[in-house]
Order: sequence, then structure tokens, then C-alpha cells
Amino acid sequence: MAPDATGDPSVPSDPAELPQSIAESGPEAAVPAVSLRHASVAFSGRTVWSEGNFDIPAGGLVCIIGPNGSGKTTLVRLLLGMIPPATGTVEVLGAPARRGNPRIGYVPQRFGDAVGEAITGRDLVRLGHTGSRWGLRKDSGVEEEVDAALAAVEAQGFAAKRLATLSGGQQQRIAVAQALVGSPDLLVLDEPLANLDLRNQRDVVDLLVTLRGERQVTMLVVVHDLNPFLAYVSGIVYLLDGHPHYGEVSDVVDAELLTHLYGTSIQVIRTATGDLYTRART
Ligand SMILES: Nc1ncnc2c1ncn2[C@@H]1O[C@H](COP(=O)(O)OP(=O)(O)OP(=O)(O)O)[C@@H](O)[C@H]1O
Ligand SMILES: [Mg+2]
Repeated sequence: MAPDATGDPSVPSDPAELPQSIAESGPEAAVPAVSLRHASVAFSGRTVWSEGNFDIPAGGLVCIIGPNGSGKTTLVRLLLGMIPPATGTVEVLGAPARRGNPRIGYVPQRFGDAVGEAITGRDLVRLGHTGSRWGLRKDSGVEEEVDAALAAVEAQGFAAKRLATLSGGQQQRIAVAQALVGSPDLLVLDEPLANLDLRNQRDVVDLLVTLRGERQVTMLVVVHDLNPFLAYVSGIVYLLDGHPHYGEVSDVVDAELLTHLYGTSIQVIRTATGDLYTRART
């Protein structure tokens, strides 16, 4: 393999040798989706986690794991520029994290609880456009974009109903549709499977995997159970002993590491057909 013009022998000069996602979208795709250096976060002087030193490559589906209160949502809020780092630097899509970045779509934790009684699904998806990120837009493309986002998550059938009357799975589809408006390059979802039954969990995972296949989008998904995503995940951020790390799936899905992480005995099982899953030892 010949070195490229930059002299970096790890970057092939022949596009045919590049991974498909990079070859299709040019060298820009090689910029990490997220880059932390010596990053820490604190509230009122109390450090939640520190020494965040990792890059998340663009283009993957990455899960964020850690026990309750370890700082997963805090990490998400840091990436969205909603809170500043106490130390270090936080870059998202090649630039310092900043609030209201239109290149990021966000599905917050407990989305269902946060929505008003009267609002309809369609209103909420439209807010992805006219809400805090862009200010009011007057062009007529907004309704078409709302329709496209609702179609992408197959929510047209119930989008006119009040959110309070929708099921958890339907609400989650609306939440994803709102985050898709504006065609973000990074989609961040905080526990999108919480409170869903197994069937709805499966449907939301299928939806996210399909969307990731169709769009050049990086997905960061906070989960408390890796299993529904294990077949699709490209890397894992884990919060261990007060520090966030990024690792390959094969390194993180490890009984010893997960047992330490969650403070309870976890088994990693690989079936004869190659499927991988984890299970708490009883
Ligand atoms: N705005 C805030 N002010 C003060 N402390 C906060 C604030 N937000 C979070 N914390 C604290 O930071 C820690 C991490 O909280 P965070 O919500 O990020 O955890 P989490 O990993 O998302 O937990 P869960 O799995 O329960 O969602 C907790 O101790 C929490 O009390
Ligand atoms: Mg959380």
C-alpha cells in the first residue's frame, strides 16, 4: 500500500482501498465524530467524571454504557454544548461543542414525560425546525421536511394525535423524527429503549439500524442494556470508575470489564451461531 500525499502511511492513496464510508464521502469523513482531551465535568465543584481522552470515529453506531449516575446523560449534554467542560476540550464533528448545533439531532432521556399534554406528534416534529435550533423559518420546505421525517420513522398514521395518547413506541418514533429534521450528521439518543416492551425495543432498534444504513449519520446511543444493539454496534463508550473510555466491541464486551463496570456479575455468551449477548449471573 503506497503512502498518501500527506505522508501518513496509514491512509491509502487509492480510493479503492479506503473503507466504503470514507471513500464515498471524501476525506472529511475521517474527522472524528467526537474528540475529548483531558475533559472533565463537574457540578458545584463535584466532579462527575474526568480524564475523558478518546475519539469516536464518524459513521458508526456507538453505544454509551455505565451504571446509573455515572454520567452518561452528562456526557451527552456536554457533547450538545448544554454544559461546558470543567477542564479540557470537547470537539464534535471537528469543532468545539456548541449549543444548538444544527448538525446534531437529539432524543432526550424520558422524552415521553417531557412532552406537553396538548401537543401533537406533528407539532413536535415541526419544532425540530422552528424550535431552538434555527429560530422561525418562513420557507415552505418545512412541511415537506416534516413529512419526510415522519415517513422515515413510519409515523404518518399517528402523527396528528396528541402525544399523550400515543404508546411509548409511537412516542419514541416521533422523538426520532424530530431529531432527523435538518438531516443531522450526528444523532444522539439517550436511552431510546427505556420503558418499551421487547417488541417495541426491537422495532426501535430496527428503525435506528435502518436509518443508519440509509443516511451518512453517526449514532450515539445511551443504553442500559447492550444486548438489543450488540449485533450492530461499532464501538462502545463506557464510564468506568469515574472516567469515560471508548473501546472496540470485542474489548468492552468482556465479562471481567462489565462485571467491574456494573458492580454485579455479568456473563458474556457467544452462541454456536456467533451471536453475542450478556447476562447478569443469578
Ligand atoms: N444539573 C445537575 N446539577 C447537579 N448535579 C447533576 C446535574 N445533572 C447531573 N448531576 C449529577 O451528575 C451525576 C451523573 O448524572 P447523569 O444524569 O449524567 O447520570 P446517568 O449515567 O445518565 O444516569 P442514569 O442511568 O440514571 O440516567 C449524578 O450524580 C447526578 O446527580
Ligand atoms: Mg441518564
